[in-house]
Amino acid sequence: MTAPKIAFICASLREGSINRKLEKALIKRFKAAGAKTSSIDLGKYEMPIYHGDLKTPPTVKKLIKRLSGFDGIVVVSPEYNGCLPPLLKNTIDWTSTVSTDYIKNAIWGLASATPGPMSGIMCMRQMQFIFNRLGGHVLHQQVGCGNASKAFNERGDLIAEPTSSHADDMRDIMLKRIALHR
Ligand SMILES: Cc1cc2nc3c(=O)[nH]c(=O)nc-3n(C[C@H](O)[C@H](O)[C@H](O)COP(=O)(O)O)c2cc1C
Repeated sequence: MTAPKIAFICASLREGSINRKLEKALIKRFKAAGAKTSSIDLGKYEMPIYHGDLKTPPTVKKLIKRLSGFDGIVVVSPEYNGCLPPLLKNTIDWTSTVSTDYIKNAIWGLASATPGPMSGIMCMRQMQFIFNRLGGHVLHQQVGCGNASKAFNERGDLIAEPTSSHADDMRDIMLKRIALHR
C-alpha cells in the first residue's frame, strides 16, 4: 500500500513563528509513522485581500492544484483576537470562489501554538467551523500548544504534555481514517 499523503499548512509567515515550529514537530511525527509529508508555503501564493470586483489571481488556482490529491491536510495556525488570522481566512475565501473539492476530499487536522496558556482553542474552533461548512471532514482531535516557548526541546521536538499526546492522537486517528477509506 502507498504511504498516506499529508500536506501541512502554516498560517504564519513570520520569521521565528512558533506555529512553524509546531508544524515542523508535527511533520516529524507523521514521517515517523510512515506518512509522505509536504509543507505548503502560503508565502509562495500571495493573494490580495478578497473583494468581489477583483479578477482571481493565478495563485488561487495554483494553490488549489497544489493542495489537491492529499489524503489529509494539517493546518497549524496562530490565533489573532480569538479568530483565525487574515492570511488563512483570505486564502480560504479566495479558493472557495473557485473550488472546494480540495477541502471535501481530505481529512483535516487542526493545530495552534500560542505564547500564552490558552493554546489557540478559539482559533481552532473557528477553523473547525469553516472547514466543516465547506464540506471538509475535520478531526475532533486537535493539537493546542500553549506556553509554546517551553513546549519544545533543543531539537525542536514537541515535549510538553498533554500537547505531545494530543499530537500522537491526531496523527494516529488521521492515518487510521485514511487507511479505512482506501
Ligand atoms: C493581532 C494579533 C492578535 C493576537 N491575538 C491573540 C489571541 O487572541 N490569542 C492568543 O493566544 N494570542 C494572540 N496573539 C499573539 C500570538 O499568539 C503571537 O503573536 C504568536 O507568536 C503568533 O504566532 P506565530 O509566532 O506563529 O507568528 C495575537 C497577536 C497579534 C499580532
